[in-house]
Amino acid sequence: MTSIFKHLSDVHLDAINAYLNAAITHHYTDARVTLEAAIRHSLLAPGKRVRPLLCIASQNLFSPGEVLKIMPVAAALEMIHTYSLIHDDLPAMDNDDFRRGLPTCHKAFDEATAILAGDALNTLAFQHMAQELPAHFPADLCLQSINYLAKAAGEPGMVGGQILDIYGSSSQDNIHALETLHLCKTGALIRASIVLPSILNKAGIRSIAKCEYFGDTIGLLFQVIDDILDVSSDKATLGKTPNKDIEQNKLTYVSLLGLEGAKQKAQSLHDEALDLLASFEADTDVLADFVSYLFKRKA
Ligand code: IPE
Ligand code: IPE
Ligand code: MG
Ligand code: MG
Ligand code: MG
Repeated sequence: MTSIFKHLSDVHLDAINAYLNAAITHHYTDARVTLEAAIRHSLLAPGKRVRPLLCIASQNLFSPGEVLKIMPVAAALEMIHTYSLIHDDLPAMDNDDFRRGLPTCHKAFDEATAILAGDALNTLAFQHMAQELPAHFPADLCLQSINYLAKAAGEPGMVGGQILDIYGSSSQDNIHALETLHLCKTGALIRASIVLPSILNKAGIRSIAKCEYFGDTIGLLFQVIDDILDVSSDKATLGKTPNKDIEQNKLTYVSLLGLEGAKQKAQSLHDEALDLLASFEADTDVLADFVSYLFKRKA
């Protein structure tokens, strides 16, 4: 982990986890105790918290030092991401047994509970945005940001990407189809992590567009590296089962271009992301370091 990014993570990780913990803690005495336990199992497992940290790094560009205000957005991104992982691991989807170094939600609990834990996290994310943001940002910008996140998480974004991942036919195995798939299933939430602070801080159309472009680039970079790690890493390092993509005949950068081709693609996305940052009118050292971390990550 490179140093400026490590500093960002050291400073904010505990606060993100504390916020998430508080958001899911209830005092039920009925079957909802199990639902809460399942949510806790997946959400508080040791994920990297890439999306909340990106969101905080972006907030620091537009409103330096006002990190607390963006915490509901950072948490909402992690809630939606974790819901997507719980559902991604289900037998009907990727059928995975391990996630974040632990049994997947449906293995630790059961399928019905895992489905509902995902559903609960999805709605909790929007509840938090609607409940907490208006105290810190103008109401119209809160609405815009909720709308943006809903699209990033839904059919035009992550959910749409997941159906392309599962049912995209081999007749469409080309770079264009692959890029669409990755930009939707993974890129949309990563892009939202960067863009939402720009919307809430009224950054202006040009700045927001730059964030979108940068967000797409690192979103793609993130999933290309995920594809590479799937074939080149091990279970202990990844905290999830490797070689799933080949086993399940998934369209990935590695399946289309080979490992070397995928690595070259990652390198060019890394370079492109750094070039884009050079056009921002703010101190982007933290984001530049973040890009290196995303490029070099081993898990
Ligand atoms: C894994 O995401 C799923 C993808 C979108 C590729 P992460 O690699 O961010 O997983 P965690 O949050 O660290 O577990
Ligand atoms: C997952 O992509 C994307 C989402 C969860 C939306 P993958 O299926 O490649 O993620 P991993 O490799 O299981 O983490
Ligand atoms: Mg998947
Ligand atoms: Mg998967
Ligand atoms: Mg993967």
